[in-house]
Amino acid sequence: MTEPVRIGIVGLGTVGSGVVRLLLDSADHISRHAGRPIIVEKAVVRDIHKVRSVQLPSGTLSADIREISGDPSISVAALLVGGLEPARSIMVELLENGKDVITANKALLAEHGPELFELARRKGRSIAFEAAVAGGIPIVAAIGECLAANRIESIRGILNGTSNFILTRMEEDGSSYAEALKLAQSKGFAEADPAMDVDGTDATQKLAILAHLAFGVWVPWADIPRTGIDGLDIDLLKYAEELGYRIRLVAVVSRAGSKLAMRVAPALVKIGTPLAETRGAYNAVSIVGDAVGRMFFHGLGAGQMPTASAVVADIIDTVVGRTAITFRTTGLLSVETPAAHISGVDSLQRHFLRIRVSDHPGVLAKIMGILGDYGISIASVLQHDATGLADTGVPLVIMTHQCASSAVRNAIAAIDQTDVVRGKSFCLSVLDD
Ligand code: NAP
Ligand code: HSE
Repeated sequence: MTEPVRIGIVGLGTVGSGVVRLLLDSADHISRHAGRPIIVEKAVVRDIHKVRSVQLPSGTLSADIREISGDPSISVAALLVGGLEPARSIMVELLENGKDVITANKALLAEHGPELFELARRKGRSIAFEAAVAGGIPIVAAIGECLAANRIESIRGILNGTSNFILTRMEEDGSSYAEALKLAQSKGFAEADPAMDVDGTDATQKLAILAHLAFGVWVPWADIPRTGIDGLDIDLLKYAEELGYRIRLVAVVSRAGSKLAMRVAPALVKIGTPLAETRGAYNAVSIVGDAVGRMFFHGLGAGQMPTASAVVADIIDTVVGRTAITFRTTGLLSVETPAAHISGVDSLQRHFLRIRVSDHPGVLAKIMGILGDYGISIASVLQHDATGLADTGVPLVIMTHQCASSAVRNAIAAIDQTDVVRGKSFCLSVLDD
């Protein structure tokens, strides 16, 4: 029998427990793929007294990272702790001590990627991160390896399972935003700070990582224009459905001359299209490559076992040496990688507007007049019986013909300054293709 490989796991929360469960339950199958058994030598957590959903042999659990970093029998470590610190310091300690690292932490890579990847290269080690983007979907391998022959033109995707779960619950069973978020947290989909999910940060960090892989530039994630789902309400979802659409948090990047046009924002997607049919914690990624054409990936983007599937695949790839080859040849996240020039997305699109107006004669004409002043032409208008809505304003829902987002934004700013508008108006782009 070939000598087993001994690994360390840092973090035994949702993902770490799933990884241990998979390594134990599928040990035979996994050792066949890895060429030798994989044994969890040490698992380091914050609180060793916490009750765990997985059982490890006694003496395996520790609260001291040096039990992994300082153990020469451990060559590979999975870092499954979220946030920036102490995750960054732990990653540095593991690399400094000669461990190959696997991580699911996209915040860490989006923030400190170049510094950590440079350290790994200097130490002759590798970092694998399939689980950091789109959970169980093998999108990092797809872009980094399988589609390597292509010039990628664009990527569009649903990259945050929690947001998608919340939107789906709200549209399917009328759950409130707060109820749906609580359920997403109880299912282990959300980040420790769920604001990262619902304000678009998590999807933006994942988009930055995908854009780096696809376009070979370093993308400072905070420069990407982003809006989350935290401002949406159930009425917006209902109006969208009435018009034949669903609302999804969509991340987009495409080439725009020497720049990358990027955005993360809720958008209307036509019912029946793949993005609209992406439900619950599922993610979806559509990629256009010059040779392959359009490809579509769909799968669970959050949750214990789908994420564990990606982490364990990375552990196997690292054990057999595949990660080291890709890591060496692709020069990912080098400090010399040029930074992306990012622009917002301002292609011609239809837009969905919801404006709450006072219920008086002439109001509709005034709104239409302002839209006309900005060159925006109207495809349809929806206004329901306004009885009882005198205080909050009457919702006026407008679908525009194709126009630039910048024109709509300027028009909405002008509309919101008039005395006929109650509250802030909503403008979402419509993805018809
Ligand atoms: P989690 O359930 O909150 O678990 C975090 C784990 O990290 C806990 O076991 C915690 O220990 C441990 N930990 C925290 N600080 C530590 C420290 N200083 N030293 C050692 N261990 C420490 O988080 P998770 O959902 O598994 O997520 C982990 C990472 O995977 C995050 O980066 C997340 O973004 C990413 N991810 C999550 C999912 C998902 O569906 N959940 C999917 C893809 C990627 P204790 O248990 O003792 O508190
Ligand atoms: N919180 C993340 C999500 C976990 O909901 O998509 C997967 O990265």
